[in-house]
Amino acid sequence: MNFAARITGTGSAFPKKRITNNSIVKKMAKLGVESSEKWIFERTGIAERRHSEIGNKAEYNSSLGLIAAQKALEMAGKKPEDIDQIVYATCTGDTILPSTACWLQKKIGALNAWVMDINAACSGFIYGVATVEQFIKTGQTKTALVIGAEKLSVLLNWEDRGSCILFGDGAGAAVVEPVAFDSPSQILSSHMLSDGNLWELLHVPGGGSNLELTPERFAGHEHKAKMNGPELFKVAVRTLTRFAKEELKKNNITVDELDWFILHQANIRIINAVAKRLGVPQEKILLNIERYGNTSSATIPTLLDEAVRDGRIRKGQLLLLDAFGAGLTFGSMLLRW
Ligand code: UT7
Repeated sequence: MNFAARITGTGSAFPKKRITNNSIVKKMAKLGVESSEKWIFERTGIAERRHSEIGNKAEYNSSLGLIAAQKALEMAGKKPEDIDQIVYATCTGDTILPSTACWLQKKIGALNAWVMDINAACSGFIYGVATVEQFIKTGQTKTALVIGAEKLSVLLNWEDRGSCILFGDGAGAAVVEPVAFDSPSQILSSHMLSDGNLWELLHVPGGGSNLELTPERFAGHEHKAKMNGPELFKVAVRTLTRFAKEELKKNNITVDELDWFILHQANIRIINAVAKRLGVPQEKILLNIERYGNTSSATIPTLLDEAVRDGRIRKGQLLLLDAFGAGLTFGSMLLRW
């Protein structure tokens, strides 16, 4: 291997509209579904999330991805024509065909790039960075763009109070470039694993090629997300903890040496339970779940972008990323910034 890879720019974008717990409690009440602001905040840590305005082209998945990508390119000092690879991590793409990566490529003008989507749900950003890292290490890719962006608001069933409260829309992006293999700032390691046996814990039954949407299936909300929250919660705590421990052990690094622990923002109680098991103090955990809810593949890159821009993440610091998502998919990554 001639090179290592590092993230040289980050960016993020969210739709304008703030959806408070109060507003979704009212929306559910109109459908005869009972909930409360207190329950949602105490059980999830979410106070509000952003939902794209229906039909607003400026808030399409790829439009949010575009803003995030432009910011990341600006930080990295790169132009769209410099990009030679784009990986767009999403499970709520603009269209089934073409890929959302192609929409983004057209919008941003990255005409020297080959591009693709990956669907690894909430682990998508880690999967995306780990993928481009391999092309960078071999010298095939010089400038990669990885996006984690979602418009999850389209998957919400407002009659299902156990899931509709959690999700929001947003986009995060990162530019990844080669550095010398012995550079101190680089992606140190990553670990991905998936378990398709656990597909049922979070899935969308209809709308794919197996269950074409009929009026009956549409009326039965089969194009909306179905989730077994309590079971997913348990698997998440167990696996996030295991992945974090393994990532640190592989690199001979202790929790004390870590500067930032960047977990997928699914539920504040999952984050706290994992942190407690690992012994990570609260001040080392990056959070944006209270403001944005669970934005799936966008949680980790938006957290990164916020903390890089406000100066919390500084050169030389050690970061551990850790995620799980529908599939199920799991992924962790250790990097020195
Ligand atoms: O990116 C990955 C995506 N998803 C996740 O990671 C989800 C992981 N799971 C979770 O975050 C939690 O399981 C939830 C937030 C989804 C649910 O919290 P919980 O503490 O596991 O609640 P529960 O499902 O065990 O339900 C407890 C009670 C139930 O009532 P009963 O049976 O005790 O009477 C639910 O019906 O809370 C009720 N409940 C609600 N009450 C008010 C469930 N949702 C609501 C709600 N408002 N929105």
